[in-house]
Amino acid sequence: MKNTYADLIDQTYYFPQEGFDLRNGYLHFHGVSIEHLIEQYGTPFRLTYLPKIGDQIKRAKNWFNKAMRKNGYKGKYKYCYCTKCCHFQHMLTEALTHDIHLETSSSFDIDLIFKLFESGKLTKSTILIHNGYKTDDYLRKIIQLNKMGFKNSITVLDSMVELERLNTMTRKTLKIGLRLATDLQPQSDYYTSRLGIRPSEIIDFYKNKVASKKRVKLKMLHFFVDSGVKDNLHYWGEFKKALEVFVALKKICPELKALNLGGGFPIRNNLGFEYDYKYMVGEIVRNIKETCDNEGIEEPDLFTEFGKFTVGESGAVIFEVLEHKKQNDREDWYIINNSLMNTIPDAWSILEKFILLPINKFRLWTIKL
Ligand SMILES: Cc1ncc(COP(=O)(O)O)c(C=O)c1O
Repeated sequence: MKNTYADLIDQTYYFPQEGFDLRNGYLHFHGVSIEHLIEQYGTPFRLTYLPKIGDQIKRAKNWFNKAMRKNGYKGKYKYCYCTKCCHFQHMLTEALTHDIHLETSSSFDIDLIFKLFESGKLTKSTILIHNGYKTDDYLRKIIQLNKMGFKNSITVLDSMVELERLNTMTRKTLKIGLRLATDLQPQSDYYTSRLGIRPSEIIDFYKNKVASKKRVKLKMLHFFVDSGVKDNLHYWGEFKKALEVFVALKKICPELKALNLGGGFPIRNNLGFEYDYKYMVGEIVRNIKETCDNEGIEEPDLFTEFGKFTVGESGAVIFEVLEHKKQNDREDWYIINNSLMNTIPDAWSILEKFILLPINKFRLWTIKL
């Protein structure tokens, strides 16, 4: 009778699959023997397979560049990594070897930028997108970058009051972006994201407050659909609204050169994961190109800030099952030697799923049928 754990996986999914492999009944992650690591380090531990980070960056660049070529798109594609997704030095250092740019969300992220610059891992030409709500400390550090000569630092205003606060802190030229507030998906508890500026106010804000400030240059429009880049009505609806705002702004502000699509590429968080990245990128690029052609405006450079897509599939956390408990006739619990609460990467992961696989016992575990 086929009733081992390995049989169950085999029947349900295509397995082994990219990144996961079985050798002598033990799980290998990207060809690395987890068994050996456990012998060497004990449990629990966190591991990162660094080459996966570069692979992900190359995949996204390829999809965008190919789609741009196919559509005769004249703008460029810029891959940014959002530092808040995983701050570890080894992750950032690896990502930066793949010709990328960075997005920051807080004053703490700028400290990372200073350190990375000191150690020669980024240059003053690296594009730095400053998103998030701007505390005084965050603004001061952005200005400091500006004074140091980081010529591609763009402050994306999350709220209209940030303009005056930023402008009064320096006499230098400032490159800014505007974040457009998006509506949340219908099943959400709230209607509109607290992040960014309302679509109905953004054009007037530019006309009345930004345009007259000669030192302030609007370079980027940014939007981010919280629920991710998905082929559904909600995503395309928000995308279309953002594109309309971009067109309207571009017509009154020719120096607006970039559209920042934010993060939100999904990752393989279960063995049955299916997502057509190439198709989504193709549709995004085609739609922007078509709209720009119809409106007679030049295509913007496209920016993304993929967080979990960059790092999420490169890592794993290894636990040991300390006890198998049965609290009633139907439910089994594994008590592990760590807390999942300490292990999830950030608050955004709370409702996310992760792949959970045994390292050993693939052939020994039997499933009750
Ligand atoms: C502005 C912004 N950019 C990028 C990201 C990264 O999102 P993801 O990890 O889904 O790519 C986030 C996530 O909250 C964000 O708020």
